[in-house]
Amino acid sequence: MSTLIGLQCHLCQAVFPAEATYVCSKCLGPLEPIYDYDLVKKMLTKDVIASRAKNLWRYRELLPITGEPQTGFHSGFTPLVRCTRLAERLGIRELYIKDDSVNHPTLSYKDRVVSVAATRAKEFGCRVLACASTGNLANSVSAHAARLGMECCVFIPDNLEAGKVLGSAIFGPTILAIAGNYDDVNRLCTQVADRYGWGFVNINLRSYYAEGAKTLAFEVAEQLGWRFPTHLVSPVAGGTLLPRIARGFREFKQIGLVDGELPHIHAAQAAGCAPVVNALNAGEDYPDPVKPDTIAKSIAIGNPADGYQVIQTVRATGGSGTAVGDDEIVDAIRVLAETEGIFTEPAGGTTLAGTIDLVRRGVIKPDDSAVVCITGNGYKTAEVVANKLNEPVRLSRAFKEFEAWQESRRALA
Ligand SMILES: Cc1ncc(COP(=O)(O)O)c(C=O)c1O
Ligand SMILES: [Zn+2]
Repeated sequence: MSTLIGLQCHLCQAVFPAEATYVCSKCLGPLEPIYDYDLVKKMLTKDVIASRAKNLWRYRELLPITGEPQTGFHSGFTPLVRCTRLAERLGIRELYIKDDSVNHPTLSYKDRVVSVAATRAKEFGCRVLACASTGNLANSVSAHAARLGMECCVFIPDNLEAGKVLGSAIFGPTILAIAGNYDDVNRLCTQVADRYGWGFVNINLRSYYAEGAKTLAFEVAEQLGWRFPTHLVSPVAGGTLLPRIARGFREFKQIGLVDGELPHIHAAQAAGCAPVVNALNAGEDYPDPVKPDTIAKSIAIGNPADGYQVIQTVRATGGSGTAVGDDEIVDAIRVLAETEGIFTEPAGGTTLAGTIDLVRRGVIKPDDSAVVCITGNGYKTAEVVANKLNEPVRLSRAFKEFEAWQESRRALA
């Protein structure tokens, strides 16, 4: 029995059938799936969830598919890591990393959204799976398309890190590297989607894709023992993730799985691309587009598709914005690695550096609990730290040489 009712316009509330449409034909507002929540409440109990496999489909009654999941059988249910050393460094009591840097199969939060969009694309009978991407999404779309045996075409800016390009190429998609930034790529893809009817996960399948992001919030609440944290810090690029985290928490409260106050949700961006944080600070409802200039390429989106929703969500939950410089981002990548043994990319560095800023400003208080969303993996962007780390000590095979080195070290200590 499907719990999915249809798609509803976020602005004018008009309801449409659950098809491959993504804007309201009446007011051009974004469409989001709606469910029969009374039915969901009956079907999706804690016992039912606990009986299911540890992947994002354990919450399937709140995901917008009508048949069986087709992919993502190992995606989601990433670790929620209690961080004592990092918490001490920041000066707060209860800190967690939601570690999507180890999401299956392509090591970023995008494996959640693509699992759902690709399943829906199969339900719609799409022949080609496609996306406009800053890198991680292209990796995930390429992998899921390979597994589903679908044709795949990914569009990326032509200046991405080598690890991000390779992370798509290995799965054999067509990769179109466009001379321009993400916003140029996205504009081109909108035209292709309109004309060719390919399944662009983040354009014409966006309403379904975005729902996959809610599962991060579902997992956080479940992994905390069916409660909410006081704060959650999310990175923002196109603005898919942050509003859906809030929606996920709200839905769990609505169907009675979790009680208590909803978390404050904070938006972290790189100072070199902070349209949403600028708008929050200026009291604006819509972000003014910016030209990105930051090492955090995966979140370098100057004209975020869901910027309005991010701003609304941050305000409604009593959250704040934080924008951090590239040096702070690199420092935070190192701090996370050195205190907790987790290697993230600049998007994760941005989120942690933003959290540090929020603690410093007193927005997150020492006795509060906070979850930091680490959404991507550092092995894909090795170049941002490559020249900043200790070189290996080079020795011959002789034991004597080792001893001499050990002695010299002791002398220095
Ligand atoms: C690692 C990483 N984190 C966060 C984001 C932000 O995503 P959103 O577009 O949902 O704001 C992206 C993608 O764009 C990403 O690649
Ligand atoms: Zn509308």
